[in-house]
Order: sequence, then structure tokens, then C-alpha cells
Amino acid sequence: METPDLSAAYALNGPEDCLRLYAGWADSYDADFAQSMDYRLPAEVAAAYLRAAPPAGPVLDVGAGTGLLAQALHGLGHRDAIDALDLSASMLARAGEKHLYRALIEGDVTRPLPCAGYAGIVSSGTFTHGHVGPGALPHLLAATRPGGVVALSINAGIWDRLGFGAAFAALPGIHGLDRAEVAIYGQAAQSRDPAHAADRALIVTFRKA
Ligand SMILES: C[S@@+](CC[C@H](N)C(=O)[O-])C[C@H]1O[C@@H](n2cnc3c(N)ncnc32)[C@H](O)[C@@H]1O
Repeated sequence: METPDLSAAYALNGPEDCLRLYAGWADSYDADFAQSMDYRLPAEVAAAYLRAAPPAGPVLDVGAGTGLLAQALHGLGHRDAIDALDLSASMLARAGEKHLYRALIEGDVTRPLPCAGYAGIVSSGTFTHGHVGPGALPHLLAATRPGGVVALSINAGIWDRLGFGAAFAALPGIHGLDRAEVAIYGQAAQSRDPAHAADRALIVTFRKA
């Protein structure tokens, strides 16, 4: 089995691969990856979501993993219900232990979602190499209520390669599209994983009309 690290995650090829990797990574993800790399994306997405002034109501965290984005939202004072959706039951189990989610939903964001009516959708670290591409954007929109806000990170290395610019331009019924480039990791990543330490992401926010 592949070592659960960023290189293995970026090389994933399909849901079976993904489930296998994250089953082996769930227990050590927070300490071995997020802390040691000074992983900043959940905090960046949470801040961007709240800056976009979402309406009150439930939020869906797509590719929630171990729940770092709910932790970041909570830390910023967000108190509306948050549901976690993830392909991996192992990652969702770790997220559940944080007692920050209203519901844990096993699901695949590349297909129509089993839940809808959210005031907001957030996602960090899931639109990346070997994971999820722009084909999932209409599913996010379908699960958002009119006036709801979407905030997600997209790894800068897949923005052009997978055609995110064109996909956003073709997404019907959205407005206020904003994007900002951020560092994914902090200083600690230089010694932990120099190959990925300088990786960057776009934080994209928009509102459903
Ligand atoms: C790098 S982790 C990010 C987790 C968390 N959001 C964070 O920032 O720490 C990517 C997560 O996306 C999930 N994932 C990958 N493909 C998915 C899909 N098609 N549908 C739903 N979740 C998916 C994985 O299981 C994993 O938990």
C-alpha cells in the first residue's frame, strides 16, 4: 500500500484508490499532516466564507475529511449547523469525534448530492490533484439555496489544467464570483515536505442567484 502522504494523495485515481488511501491516513492526518505542515487552507476557506456574508442556515462541508474546516469556522464564531460530506467513512469517523457536525454524510461530490437546501457550502483541500475537478461544481450549486454562498479552495496546479476558469464562466445563476490566491502551508512545511511547501490554492467564493 502507498504511504499516506501528499504525493500519494495527488496521485489518486478514482474512488477506490481514494478510500484506500484515506482509510490509512485518517488516524494520523491531523497530527502527521495538518499540524506538521502548518496546513492553512481550512482557515483560509472559513475566513473567506464568513467575509462573503452568508445568510443564516445550515452549511455543507464537502470533502470534510477529519473536520478541520468546521473547527476553523467554529473558531471564528460560526454557530449555524454544519453537515460533513465525504467519500471516506474513515475520515468522517474522525470528523464525528470533534462533535462539530450535525450530520455525517457518506457521498461522492462528483455525482448529484443526497442532500440540499444549504445556506452555504464550504470545501478545503478537495478540489486538488487526483481528487475532484470542475464537474462537481453544478452539484454544489444544486445543493445551495437561492442567496446561499459557496467558498472553496482549488489547488492552483489544477486550475488551468482542468479548466476551472471556463467551468465557472459557464456556471448558470451565480454572481459575485471572487478569487484570491493563498499559500496552502506555512513555514513548517519547508522541512517536513519541501516538494510541496510552496504549493498555492485559489480561494473562490460566489453566491447563488
Ligand atoms: C485533502 S483531504 C481534505 C480534508 C479537509 N477538508 C481538510 O481540509 O483537511 C480531501 C478529502 O476529500 C475527500 N474526497 C475525495 N474525493 C471525494 C469525492 N469525490 N467526494 C467526496 N469527498 C471526496 C477525501 O476522502 C478526503 O477526506
